[in-house]
Amino acid sequence: MTSLTVLSEPITARDADWWRQATVYQIYPRSFADASGDGIGDLAGIVSRIPYLRELGVDAVWLSPFYPSALADGGYDVDDYRDVDPRIGTLEEFDEMVAALHGAGIRLVVDIVPNHSSDRHEWFRAALAAPKGSPERERYIFRDGKGENGELPPADWEAAFGGLAWEPVGDGQWYLHTFAPEQPDFNWDSREVRDDFLETLRFWSDRGVDGFRVDVANLLVKDLSEPLPSAAELRAFDEAAGEHPLASRDEVHEIYAEWRELFDRYDPPRTAVAEAWVPTARQRARFASPSSLGQAFSFDLLEADFDAAQFRDIIDDNLAESRASGASSTWVFSNHDVTRHATRYGLPPRAGSTTKQGTEWVAQGGPEEQLDRELGERRARAATMLQLALPGSAYLYQGEELGLHEVADIAPDERQDPAFFRGLNATKDGLGRDGCRVPLPWASDGPSFGFGPARPHLPQPEWFGASSVEAQAGDPSSTLSLYREALALRRELQSDETLEWLEEISAGDVLAFSRPNGWVSVTNFGSAPVDLPDGEVLLSSSPLEGGRLPGAATAWIRS
Ligand code: BGC
Repeated sequence: MTSLTVLSEPITARDADWWRQATVYQIYPRSFADASGDGIGDLAGIVSRIPYLRELGVDAVWLSPFYPSALADGGYDVDDYRDVDPRIGTLEEFDEMVAALHGAGIRLVVDIVPNHSSDRHEWFRAALAAPKGSPERERYIFRDGKGENGELPPADWEAAFGGLAWEPVGDGQWYLHTFAPEQPDFNWDSREVRDDFLETLRFWSDRGVDGFRVDVANLLVKDLSEPLPSAAELRAFDEAAGEHPLASRDEVHEIYAEWRELFDRYDPPRTAVAEAWVPTARQRARFASPSSLGQAFSFDLLEADFDAAQFRDIIDDNLAESRASGASSTWVFSNHDVTRHATRYGLPPRAGSTTKQGTEWVAQGGPEEQLDRELGERRARAATMLQLALPGSAYLYQGEELGLHEVADIAPDERQDPAFFRGLNATKDGLGRDGCRVPLPWASDGPSFGFGPARPHLPQPEWFGASSVEAQAGDPSSTLSLYREALALRRELQSDETLEWLEEISAGDVLAFSRPNGWVSVTNFGSAPVDLPDGEVLLSSSPLEGGRLPGAATAWIRS
């Protein structure tokens, strides 16, 4: 085992490729650390935890929305794209945070939400106050309702969180909202909308932001020619062929070509990563191309079972895809939208399922009473060590370094996720996304486990104390210590983006590959211990058993 080295230096270098193999840590700001004492995490809280991020060893932070918002969708309902939510901080504090992160050698990627604003955005208020056919309404998607007085929706489309995707405004017109009614969709055919977003990207880039995470990047452009299709007709369109009127249309790349042109005017160029749940690898690669956003999230591993064959195929496909697109690969197991991976991996298959665990529980919480916590954590640690050995960017979600499980026991009246309230819960039998957004436990006890002086905005469970940073920091066998050691080693060992499978070991439940510098990673997806290849064992996600790698574990070896 190696000792912990913190290698980060203040950011001065203009390294244009910094993102290619970066470890990016997602902060969901309202749940990270609360310095002001209002129960909501804030920018000052983030700054106070920069030593923690530095010791963890991440290269960049991805900050989920911090803009003014009524929080109808956890901040993805933005009132003003060029300001900070006063509950979270000020623009001045934002600048201080950028300087402090950069001073600690950590880059900053911010979330940008271009598909929709909030219904409190000044443009949407103006649209409501203006008459039908006005330029104010042109910035959003308004249509006449059906029926004598427009009392029926223009179409019966369903919103992503459940319920109807059209909302009446009282004068016979309705507006489109792909997500909650508080999130009206912009009209991206409008030059004004396009120019305003370019202005926003400039605003944050000028403030020193290093990159952008682009929310639902594949949904912006829509073909709304009349007659609008019905919901049933919509389902029949082939999204994979780019034929769906509302999603994954090729024309969306015209927007990102303009963004890229702007990003490339900076030194180093600003980076961007697309969140685009598209049906084909070819479509994902277009977002990742250097003439578009430059990188795109792959959720393939996130949706897979803990299974050697599935992992191998996904890794091969993703590496081939990035070789073709010129981007680097992205690897993700958890984020603010899905059930934490420690929990997914500890749940049994759903009745009648053909997969072991994984996809079905990704957005649904899962049945708490069937959860094998210990197995889930073991597998999660193994999966993360495999992830961190892969070439490309590793995206980590706050709290996974503590091995946190999903919090299932949140009372309905304390929940916040619109997906829970708007029918998605009813149709999918799930708990929504609040369980992965519970404020982090920093201390072993105290009323908010060190999150801040006040009662946190989502309730924390009793077991958070034992998972806290304080409880884990001094324990060499903890998940936090494993992440710290793994990230330090990753920095030390990482070089080019090549990977070679070790075919003589990769069989059945075992996956082994080597990277340059003699770095070998072996994962045992099964339950029986297996032999390790010769070499110095650098780190192991679970203790070796008589020199052998136990089930649900990964070891790194220097050959
Ligand atoms: C974000 C979600 C959000 C949705 C609408 C997503 O993909 O990650 O948290 O609810 O976009 O903005």
